[in-house]
Amino acid sequence: MNNDPSHSGLDWFRAAVPYIAAHRDRTMVIAMAGEAAQAPELPALLRDIAQLRALGPRVVLVHGARPQIEARLRERGLTPRYAQGLRVTDADALEAVCDAAGRLRLHIEGLLSRNLGSPSVAGTRLRVASGNFVTARPLGVRGGVDFQFTGEVRRVDTVGIERLLDDGQIVLVSPLGYSPTGEVFNLSGEDVATQVAVALKADKLIFLTEAGPLRGPQHQTLAQLTVPAAEQLLADDHALPPELASHLRSAVEVCSVRDLRVHLVDRHIDGGLLIELFSRQGIGTLVSREPVERLRAATMDDVGGIFDLLQPLENEGILVQRSREHLELEIDCFRVLDADGLIIGTAALYAFPEHDTAEIAGLALHPDYRGGGRGDQILEHMEAQAIKRGHTKVFVLTTRTAQWFQERGYREGQVADLPPARQALYNQARNSRVLVKPLP
Ligand SMILES: CC(C)(COP(=O)(O)OP(=O)(O)OC[C@H]1O[C@@H](n2cnc3c(N)ncnc32)[C@H](O)[C@@H]1OP(=O)(O)O)[C@@H](O)C(=O)NCCC(=O)NCCS
Repeated sequence: MNNDPSHSGLDWFRAAVPYIAAHRDRTMVIAMAGEAAQAPELPALLRDIAQLRALGPRVVLVHGARPQIEARLRERGLTPRYAQGLRVTDADALEAVCDAAGRLRLHIEGLLSRNLGSPSVAGTRLRVASGNFVTARPLGVRGGVDFQFTGEVRRVDTVGIERLLDDGQIVLVSPLGYSPTGEVFNLSGEDVATQVAVALKADKLIFLTEAGPLRGPQHQTLAQLTVPAAEQLLADDHALPPELASHLRSAVEVCSVRDLRVHLVDRHIDGGLLIELFSRQGIGTLVSREPVERLRAATMDDVGGIFDLLQPLENEGILVQRSREHLELEIDCFRVLDADGLIIGTAALYAFPEHDTAEIAGLALHPDYRGGGRGDQILEHMEAQAIKRGHTKVFVLTTRTAQWFQERGYREGQVADLPPARQALYNQARNSRVLVKPLP
């Protein structure tokens, strides 16, 4: 088996399956700079985006067009004008902008359509749609500079975009906006992506970066940042490439409006987008309002995730069997550790109020996430829940994890120590050990 060249691919695929399930039907806005759109890797990048769509997420792709606009301006003998980091778009420049953005849109549409018809995603009937989804207003005069046809997003046609996403299409959005009076404005692709993500209540905003990955002081790629950490980095690190600083500022801004996840992914890495979304380690930076892992009460939507987590352990005899129906009935007893939509840990608390006691059961972590203190985190949380409900002790029944619990203050008990209702259910064949811990 290990000599099989497809082995590592198979492992990779198996590891990706839970992420595929977690991302299904999630709305993702992907922002790509104009530089990416003229790079030789563009076809491969668009193939990855088409494959991403085929795996279930709803995809909006926003493209920039800065180098294409510069080229058109040069062709016309015009000099690009910038003020305060923004293009000043006069009437001549606007023609170049429309020309460049329009052609680029067609080029991307063409490549996407080719990918959508390719064998890797064929049969899924994917299509791409573009249109005038963004209403804009002029930036006006700022700091004494009249920006003329440079605009900012005023409104996003969420109904129009949603309809296309519901229809399974990839929606392509250009950095152009239209005013109700029919004028066209040049917009920043980053601003468009950010506003579209907020308006659509997207789950993810993904910036495909030109300036490589976001690195910390020791030059290590930063895998995760909370908003305060991102703000700190912006305040401290004056050597941040301007593009990454700008994406980080957008991430901070967007996370303050909506609790969504912003990813910065180096677009030069082959398959980087898919690695970021479908592997545990990822390759980019994830910015979120709160730490990405959240311990929370389980809901009916988590039944599948809990089942997938417990089943292998049940098959090994480490945990007792629980059917999906069983989990549905007892879902209110469960807590889950949620890592960006993926259920990586769980436990249940069953109360025996007449005996001031509770059972902690079904404690499990996904194998990839063990050994990092998460078991302790869940156990402490369950004990705190028991204390909050007025219980004076908790117990666990375990066949193979007694040592782990003993190291955490649990002491050997007897079946006779269990509440009578639990004694009646005790499975003699499993012969689990009873461990008890008094609560403060
Ligand atoms: C038990 C479990 C929840 C611990 O989660 P975790 O996040 O890995 O735990 P922590 O990081 O807090 O602790 C890891 C330590 O526990 C040890 N440990 C893990 N499983 C153990 C076991 N069955 N017996 C004794 N020690 C164990 C590890 O070796 C590690 O010790 P080390 O740091 O000295 O090397 C996790 O290993 C798991 O899901 N196991 C399978 C399911 C299970 O046994 N659940 C209990 C059912 S009652």
